[in-house]
Amino acid sequence: MKKGEVMKNNLFVIFGATGNLTYKKLLPALFQLISNKSFSGDTKIVCVGRKELTTETYVDDAINKVTEKIDWDSFRDNLLYYRMDIESISDYDSLRNFIENHCQFNNSNTVFYLATSPELLPTIAEGISTFNLAKKGDPSVRIVFEKPFGEDLASAKEYNQLLKQYFKESQIYRIDHYLGKEMIQNILVVRFSNKIFEDVWGSNGIKKITILAKESEGVIDRGSYYDRSGALRDMLQSHLMQMLSLVAMEPPESFETDDIRDKKVHVLRNLKTDFNPDNVFIGQYNGYRSERNVLPDSKTETFVYLKVAVDTERWRGVPFYFITGKHLDEKKSEIIVDFLENSHSHKQWSNESVPPNQLIIRIDPEDGITFQINTKYPGLTLDVRPTILDYCHKCQAIGNFPEAYEKLLLDIISGDSTLFPRWDEIEHSWRFIDQIKSYLKDSDPIEYNSFEELDQMIKYK
Ligand SMILES: NC(=O)c1ccc[n+]([C@@H]2O[C@H](COP(=O)([O-])OP(=O)(O)OC[C@H]3O[C@@H](n4cnc5c(N)ncnc54)[C@H](OP(=O)(O)O)[C@@H]3O)[C@@H](O)[C@H]2O)c1
Repeated sequence: MKKGEVMKNNLFVIFGATGNLTYKKLLPALFQLISNKSFSGDTKIVCVGRKELTTETYVDDAINKVTEKIDWDSFRDNLLYYRMDIESISDYDSLRNFIENHCQFNNSNTVFYLATSPELLPTIAEGISTFNLAKKGDPSVRIVFEKPFGEDLASAKEYNQLLKQYFKESQIYRIDHYLGKEMIQNILVVRFSNKIFEDVWGSNGIKKITILAKESEGVIDRGSYYDRSGALRDMLQSHLMQMLSLVAMEPPESFETDDIRDKKVHVLRNLKTDFNPDNVFIGQYNGYRSERNVLPDSKTETFVYLKVAVDTERWRGVPFYFITGKHLDEKKSEIIVDFLENSHSHKQWSNESVPPNQLIIRIDPEDGITFQINTKYPGLTLDVRPTILDYCHKCQAIGNFPEAYEKLLLDIISGDSTLFPRWDEIEHSWRFIDQIKSYLKDSDPIEYNSFEELDQMIKYK
């Protein structure tokens, strides 16, 4: 998509339009895209739900539930509510009639967005295909669904087989919203547009890499989903593995979608770990079992620590650490790259040793980069001190700072699937998660009250 281009004839059909994701992320992002003219003003959004609502009462409901600032007087013209039971195949015939009567359906960029639980995927895929709302291979029609992409490799394969019956891979967009975040996209720019990093990006320059996603909150109102999922499936299989694949991938032949995806898959295929308690352990926060919709004897992990290796020429000998969990000391998501110790020291330096360089890509809640270098302390002696170069990405934005969902929705309409995991990325990450699950199958998670307790157990060897 060219800068300034307006995408026209857009039709979004959101299944699960009375749910949390629609109110929290999709409606605000769609409003932004229309108001900043990335999407034309006549974009139609068909909000599908099972509640007895009209378009008018749906908008009233949305006004109460959406917290972002939206000009509802104009945005209401883009919205249509359609009531149906998603699980009833025959209802899709009437949905088609509704869309034909209310929207310019032919020649539109059509997106079917599944903001529902994954169990509804088979019915929706069958319904929209059987009643010709979506044709296999039609490049103007796309289906979008949210993580988790299955519960393990076997169920992910099942979903994928089913989707392949109705859609071509190029029509399928699997959302991992982390990939829409500005700083995740920045990983490739930092790596491949800076000679200083490109030349030392591997075991010749890097000592270790830590990929961290800490949350301070517990499960809040998502107990029933989380208790079935846990941190391994909820965070590691998707967000953290995706971060790793971008950090560790070989330089792609080009920045075309499949060249990037091929290199990401290469990383995921080469993940290895020696399964032992020093390299992997899980925790559960004290009080988790009393959360709403969590089983009282739940063994679901709310914390994971994992040390892995990427078994390729570039990374041999460099450990990668994953740390993720809920109810920890802070909300923070970042990638910490620790470079090797400096091999030179100078007798005139007063320090016995100087600290190694460190690069931190900050993803959440701040967006930015810090790079630690060594400089001379002001004064008459040669004292070396670590100095932080701090870049704030958000501070550089002029006007609206795009949310991840804005970027991803725009890419879907433009037909750019670079930021969406391809099936083989999902396949290899599930294969690895299944191995971890199988190793942990008889382990109880360690109960924790604070991150400090867990941090003491982590052996950064
Ligand atoms: N919420 C987030 O921030 C978030 C973030 C990342 C990924 N996701 C993923 O996004 C998906 C949706 O999450 P969510 O939090 O929005 O879930 P949710 O709040 O439970 O919403 C689910 C929606 O599906 C509708 N629905 C369920 N069965 C239906 C049926 N038979 N007919 C018609 N509508 C039906 C619900 O309608 P009712 O309102 O009538 O129940 C509701 O609108 C899940 O896969 C989740 O894992 C969510």
